[in-house]
Amino acid sequence: MAMAKGQLFLVLISFSSLVYPSQSRLSYNYYSKSCPSFDKIIQETVTNKQITSPSTAAGTVRLFFHDCLVNGCDASILVSSTPFNSAERDADINLSLPGDAFDLVTRAKTALELSCPNTVSCADILAAATRDLVTMVGGPYYNVLLGRKDYRISKSSYVEGNLPRPTMPMSKIISMFAAKGFSVQEMVALSGAHTIGFSHCKEFKSNLYNDTHYNQRFAKALQNACADYPKNPTLSVFNDIMTPNKFDNVFFDNLGKGLGLLESDHGLYNDPMTNPFVKIYAKDENRFFKDFARAMEKLSVYGIKTGRRGEIRHRCDAIN
Ligand code: HEM
Repeated sequence: MAMAKGQLFLVLISFSSLVYPSQSRLSYNYYSKSCPSFDKIIQETVTNKQITSPSTAAGTVRLFFHDCLVNGCDASILVSSTPFNSAERDADINLSLPGDAFDLVTRAKTALELSCPNTVSCADILAAATRDLVTMVGGPYYNVLLGRKDYRISKSSYVEGNLPRPTMPMSKIISMFAAKGFSVQEMVALSGAHTIGFSHCKEFKSNLYNDTHYNQRFAKALQNACADYPKNPTLSVFNDIMTPNKFDNVFFDNLGKGLGLLESDHGLYNDPMTNPFVKIYAKDENRFFKDFARAMEKLSVYGIKTGRRGEIRHRCDAIN
């Protein structure tokens, strides 16, 4: 039986909204009419902040990653705790997220509220700022869909089990990412973010004396660097000791030489599931950049809220 043209059209529309339910209202130029200065304000804020505080890029990439993996990229990581609610950012694994990254989002939000009040979500600010920072420190550019809403719930109790720890076996890290739809290859590519930034001594100190995967001279140097750690818990070391401030593929090359910092970084090289990708990325920076960009694009829409499932917060640190 032939279907009338109008009926077919309706069927197609409702089918397409079933295929991409959470992305249906996103677009690359979401703010082109409602906030034409969006890109410019993000870029200016990012540039000023990164120049005055060069650790902002790495801190923001990690902040974004920790936001996304716990219930989606919905800015729930930015919310402050209240006497009635212990928020995500106060879960122990998030306590080391740096103030500069939170400050960057606050600055961008303040500037955007002046230009286009009640329009831009904190989740979109964090996603776009992360991309601009990756590019600014030498990494690949990728497109970021916009139109996320901010979530009204942020609970520290949601965090455990959703973020990887360096002491986890690689099989556990792989299954944690797999449960969120990320392949082994995507997980390895994303982990290439450890080409920038640093880790506190407490994250790797206990391995320095017994882990045979370290280059011996590197292990000694790390023991020295962390010697005062009990007195000074802020002591930290670059994740990529060769080119710490440059987003490149050297992190992967380090791994084969015993110059990885975290136990999980060594795991990427030693596990037979992840090792082939580490080797490819160590040899081929273009391939790493391509896969990283694609995986970041995918991460940036993970679990997002659109429409009435979220809100535009007035302040990124407080639910309206
Ligand atoms: C695969 C499992 C992963 C584990 C076990 C892990 C663990 C860690 C740990 C323990 C630190 C040190 C934090 C500190 O001491 O302040 C760190 C830093 C960092 N991580 Fe990961 N991470 C993983 C994957 C990722 C992914 C997928 C990304 C981003 C897409 C990422 C981005 C970063 C960045 C940029 C830093 C440096 C932060 C800074 O300098 O402030 N990590 N990671």
